[in-house]
Amino acid sequence: MRPYLLVLIFAIAVYGVVLAYTFGISPIVKENSIESWNQKEASRAPVYVQSDACKQCHLDVFTASTSGNHSTVECSACHGSGREHASLRTAESILIEDTRDACMICHKNIAGRNIATVDESHGSGVRCSYCHDPHSANISE
Ligand code: HEC
Ligand code: HEC
Ligand code: HEC
Ligand code: HEC
Repeated sequence: MRPYLLVLIFAIAVYGVVLAYTFGISPIVKENSIESWNQKEASRAPVYVQSDACKQCHLDVFTASTSGNHSTVECSACHGSGREHASLRTAESILIEDTRDACMICHKNIAGRNIATVDESHGSGVRCSYCHDPHSANISE
C-alpha cells in the first residue's frame, strides 16, 4: 500500500471517532451520560459540609445565621450538602429551597416537638422569606 493511502485511512478513522463523540454515539460517551452519572451519585454516601466551611466566603450570612434564632440550624438544612459548592463556588452547585415546605419541615406542629410552630394559615399564600430573614429568622422589615 502507498504511504499516502495509509495516512488518508488513518485521517478518516480519526474523523469518524471525533464525529461519534460529537453525536454521543460512542460507548465511552454513553458511560458518562446524565443517567449513569445520576446513578453513580445516588449510590454514593452523602457527605455534608458543616456551616464552618461556609464562613470564609459568606461571613455576613454566617454571622446573621449563627447569632440569631437559627443558631442551631446548619446551612445544610436549607442548602443541601454544600460539599461540591465549597470547591466549585458556582451558583449552580448549591441548592436554595425558598419554599414554605422547606420551613414547615421543622416548624409545623408535631406533638412533642420543642420549637416554635405555626400552621399553614400563618402568612398563607406567601413564602416565609417574604417576612422572615431565613438566616437570622427574625421578622424582616
Ligand atoms: C471558597 C468560597 C466559598 C465557600 C467555602 C462557599 N461558598 Fe457559597 N458562594 C461562593 C461564590 C463565589 C458564590 C457566588 C456564585 C455566583 O454567583 O456565581 C456563592 C454563592 C452561594 C449561594 C447563592 C447561590 C445563588 O443562586 O445565588 C449560596 C446559597 C451559597 N453560596 C451557600 C453556601 C453554603 C451553604 C456554603 C457552605 C456549605 C458555601 N456557600 C460555601 C463561594 C463560596
Ligand atoms: C432556614 C433555612 C436556611 C438556612 C439554615 C440557611 N439559609 Fe441561606 N438562604 C435561605 C433562603 C430561603 C435563601 C434565599 C432567600 C434569601 O436570600 O433571603 C438563602 C440565601 C442564601 C444566600 C444568597 C443570598 C444572600 O443572602 O447572600 C447565601 C450566600 C446563603 N443563603 C448562605 C447560607 C449560609 C452560609 C448558611 C449557614 C451559615 C445558610 N445560608 C443557612 C435559607 C437558609
Ligand atoms: C432544621 C430545622 C429548621 C428549619 C428547616 C427552619 N427552622 Fe426556623 N427554627 C428552628 C429552630 C431549632 C429554632 C429555634 C428554636 C425556637 O425558636 O423555637 C427556629 C426559630 C425560628 C424562628 C423564631 C421563632 C421564635 O421563637 O421567635 C422563626 C421566625 C423561624 N425559625 C422561621 C423559619 C423560616 C422562615 C424557615 C424557612 C426559611 C425556617 N425557620 C426553617 C429550626 C428550623
Ligand atoms: C406575612 C408575613 C409573614 C409570613 C409570610 C410568615 N410569617 Fe411567620 N411571623 C410573622 C410575624 C409578624 C410574626 C410575629 C408575630 C406572631 O407571632 O404572629 C411571626 C412569627 C413566626 C414564628 C414564631 C411563632 C411563635 O409562636 O413564637 C415562627 C416560627 C414563624 N413565624 C414561622 C413562619 C414560617 C415557617 C412561615 C412560612 C410557612 C412564616 N412564618 C410566614 C409574619 C409572617
